[in-house]
Amino acid sequence: MLKDFFMGLSQNQLLNSTAKKYGLKLGAQSVVAGTNIEEAIKSIKELNSKGISCTIDNLGEFVFKEEEAVAAKEQILKVIEAIHASQVDAHISLKPTQVGLDIDYTFCLNNVKEIVDRADSYGIFVNIDMEDFSHLEPTFDLLDDLSLEYDNVGTVIQSYFREAQEYLEKYKNFRIRIVKGAYKESEEIAYPDKKDIDANFIKITEWHLLNGKFTSIATHDHRIISHLKEFVKKNNIPNEKFEFQMLYGFRKELQLKLASEGYNFCTYVPFGNDWYGYFMRRLAERPQNLNLVAKQVFNK
Ligand code: FDA
Repeated sequence: MLKDFFMGLSQNQLLNSTAKKYGLKLGAQSVVAGTNIEEAIKSIKELNSKGISCTIDNLGEFVFKEEEAVAAKEQILKVIEAIHASQVDAHISLKPTQVGLDIDYTFCLNNVKEIVDRADSYGIFVNIDMEDFSHLEPTFDLLDDLSLEYDNVGTVIQSYFREAQEYLEKYKNFRIRIVKGAYKESEEIAYPDKKDIDANFIKITEWHLLNGKFTSIATHDHRIISHLKEFVKKNNIPNEKFEFQMLYGFRKELQLKLASEGYNFCTYVPFGNDWYGYFMRRLAERPQNLNLVAKQVFNK
């Protein structure tokens, strides 16, 4: 119930655009690394100093106008320039709808190509985040088209999809981030029960660790993390083949612990004015995250 409530709020376009005008509120500042590039780079430097690399998401969704998609692309190009200029250990995560996937495929491809090309010139990797099922095929198409010219791109596979293993086998030669999945999907295509989603997460991650190019294990679930630590040890999978990923502001102690144990660790660092939908999805998947809000309100 609460999950559906926050999911509904995340998709409310009026609230989304209103939130943009008012800066970080409602406790979002604990999980969003500022509203501008300078603030994001400062947070990244702090994480880098603790042995943690970062992937930067310039937040944005609900883009249906060409000028907004072009503005988002320009902003991401500035982030790439800032990564290069400050020499931080970071790469890019982007959402295809932010740069025009809901407007026109070729327009979006050209925007992403410009981003991937600039990143490539500095040796920076670009992850194409996976959104809901309606964008899954065109996102794979983007990857197919980009891989004809570039090898600094990868994507995300969501374990709630019944066909996740098939997607993974097709894209095993890419750097792949494995997640449980953050959107509301129908039971026909996605497992509704958490235990099936978790079991599939473990199954496909083990498969990719054994057969894939590079695996980003993106979860805050300590049970899954402990299981996979044992799995890599037992199968002699070297550290260079995988990393753990978590979101900025979540389970900070566990993030530091994994990095200090010698595992590659990457924090997903979202920033920007368009924080509202991202923040509501985090509340939807874990209403206990409301504690974050309460702390911000009362711990002044
Ligand atoms: P989940 O919410 O299933 O929690 C499992 C258990 O872990 C809990 O029961 C609790 O014990 C513990 N736990 C979780 N969070 C905790 C906390 N904050 N404090 C203490 N204990 C906690 N999704 C998508 O659809 N497309 C994408 O591109 C991405 N990208 C992405 C990148 C990264 C780096 C991450 C970490 C996640 C994503 N996601 C995503 C989101 C993902 O699909 C998923 O919705 C969330 O990660 C929540 O699932 P978890 O596996 O993290 O834990």
